This record gives sequence, structure tokens and C-alpha cells, in this order.
Amino acid sequence: MNTIFGAIPILFRHPAIYGLSRITSSLYLSNGTAANNKLLLFASQITTVINVSVEVVSTFYPNIRYVHIPITDTPVSRLSDFFDLVADRIHSVDLQQGRTLLHCAAGVSRSAALCLAYLMKYHAMSLSNAHAWVKSCRPIIRPNHGFWQQLIQYEYKLFGTNTVRMVNSPLGLIPDVYENEVRLMVAF
Ligand SMILES: *[C@@H]1O[C@H](CO)[C@@H](O)[C@H](O)[C@H]1NC(C)=O
Ligand SMILES: *[C@@H]1O[C@H](CO)[C@@H](O)[C@H](O)[C@H]1NC(C)=O
Repeated sequence: MNTIFGAIPILFRHPAIYGLSRITSSLYLSNGTAANNKLLLFASQITTVINVSVEVVSTFYPNIRYVHIPITDTPVSRLSDFFDLVADRIHSVDLQQGRTLLHCAAGVSRSAALCLAYLMKYHAMSLSNAHAWVKSCRPIIRPNHGFWQQLIQYEYKLFGTNTVRMVNSPLGLIPDVYENEVRLMVAF
């Protein structure tokens, strides 16, 4: 067996060195640098790359489809305008046995928020469970508070109920899933 490619499955399964975070069998999340890494795209058999950023396109690889969602990472950006479009696209790629990589610049806010919307719509997960799951796959996720508000509205639209709410904190308005950690931060 070719030693380099033989080593990939073990090397890339480790979360700490695995550039693309695996969210479902057909959805991965990463930062912009990893999204341009041919070896990582190849190793995870990515067929569609969804780029949620506004910077200038750098690399395109043949046989991969590219989708561009031009959104900045600010609380007032209307990411929710793209919740259905992106979730539907990830779902259709999945139905065609493909795999989607969703990325923004850091793989922390924009792309993570879109993952949460997808998991709610197509995996019937509550927002709270979707967040717990994605965070377990990629501990650095942290959608901005405007995106949280949009996700909370989306959860209500889908399920008629909410599992996350915005609360006041010493750091301003935060989703209640961050309450514990903010309490600890303030304590130190
Ligand atoms: C992007 O992700 C790769 C792979 O996980 C990592 O090695 C790199 O440090 C990250 N870059 C930034 C700027 O976060
Ligand atoms: C994402 O899209 C932006 C805007 O078109 C582009 O500048 C950037 O290079 C793309 N990033 C990646 C990692 O492909």
C-alpha cells in the first residue's frame, strides 16, 4: 500500500490534526486555509465546497462544485436569508452520495451557524442539541450573537418551539448555552 495514502485514514481521524471537522457522514466544516488544501479535500472525498465569506477566490479544483455565500461575520449580516438554500444544497449533495465542505474564514461563526441550521432542518435536531453536537465535533465553534438570534427564529419557524434563548450577561446578550462559561469567565 502507498505509505502516504495508507496513513491518511489514521492521521486525519484525530480531531486535533484533522483539518476538516466531520459533522455528519456527508458534511464537514473547516476554516478557509484547510478548505484550499487539496489533500484534505481529497482525503474526505469532498464534492461540493460552500464558501461563506467575502474575500477573493483563490483556488478551484476540478471535479469539485463551488458555492459562494457572500456574508461578513457581523451580528447584522442576514445569514438567515441563506439557511434554507444552504441546508437544501447540503441535503441534495447527500442524496447524490456526495460530501459537502462548509467553510468561512475561521470555521467558527458563519459556517458553524449554517451547520446548525442544516441539522435542525434535515436531522430534526433542536438548536440546543445541534449546537452540542457540532461543538463536540469542532470545539472552537462560536456563532456571533446576531446569528444566534437568527437561528432561534429559525428553530421556532421549523418546530414552533425554542430550546435556546438569548439572555443578558456581563458580556452583553448571549445565548443561554454560553451562560455557564460566561459565569466562569467573570469569576476569574
Ligand atoms: C486552519 O485549519 C488548519 C487545519 O485544522 C489549521 O492547521 C490552521 O492552523 C487553521 N488556520 C487558522 C488561521 O485558523
Ligand atoms: C471564498 O470566497 C471568497 C470570495 O469569493 C474568496 O476570496 C476566497 O478565496 C474563498 N476562499 C476559499 C478558501 O476558497
